[in-house]
Amino acid sequence: MVIHALLAASLAFTSLPAQAAAVDCSRVKCLALTFDDGPGKYTNALLKALAKERAKATFFLVGKRVEKMPGMAKKIVARGHAIGNHTYSHAWLPSLSDDEILEELKVTQEVIEKATGQRPDMYRPPYGKTDERVLGVATQVDLSEILWTGTTLDWSLKDTKKIKAAVLKLAKRDGVILMHDVVPETVKVMPEVLRELKKRGYHLVTVPVLLRGKGPKPGVTYP
Ligand code: NI
Repeated sequence: MVIHALLAASLAFTSLPAQAAAVDCSRVKCLALTFDDGPGKYTNALLKALAKERAKATFFLVGKRVEKMPGMAKKIVARGHAIGNHTYSHAWLPSLSDDEILEELKVTQEVIEKATGQRPDMYRPPYGKTDERVLGVATQVDLSEILWTGTTLDWSLKDTKKIKAAVLKLAKRDGVILMHDVVPETVKVMPEVLRELKKRGYHLVTVPVLLRGKGPKPGVTYP
């Protein structure tokens, strides 16, 4: 029994990403930074900034962008970040038929899996626009829905100082912050933001780590 338990524990340990084993968000202050709409031309710089601070993040990828930059999508996963589906064409999902929603999500699952070897278990509806029907269709493709506790509106601020101030204001324990790696100012200011968040005691983790293994579950919306 003891040997079995040890074996199971060591297998569980080796199969988890290093961070999942190291960070327990029920014991330390965690924050999940999320970046939507990529991959794009600034994603690589963001990956460098995250690596330098040993921070992990979650990227919600647009299918048609992954088709253009499959290598970057693969790199995001290789660096230990989490990925999610952000539809194929950045669609306003509630305005589509069930079949069209399914198509947006399914094709993106396939494109992402082809590029990264990983099939997402999370999606984020573009513009945060969702409803019971959209969530129902997402459930058919085993996706959980990830929204946020704070949005920086970085795409409209377009100013490094304002974006930094917005992130720091929105930061809170177990928070999920929405940003965009296609906004150059966001990527430019991220080294400073990461250093400041760490100074304030935050562990920067992926959404699954934030959920402490209790999610993401298909058909469930977080946070
Ligand atoms: Ni988006």
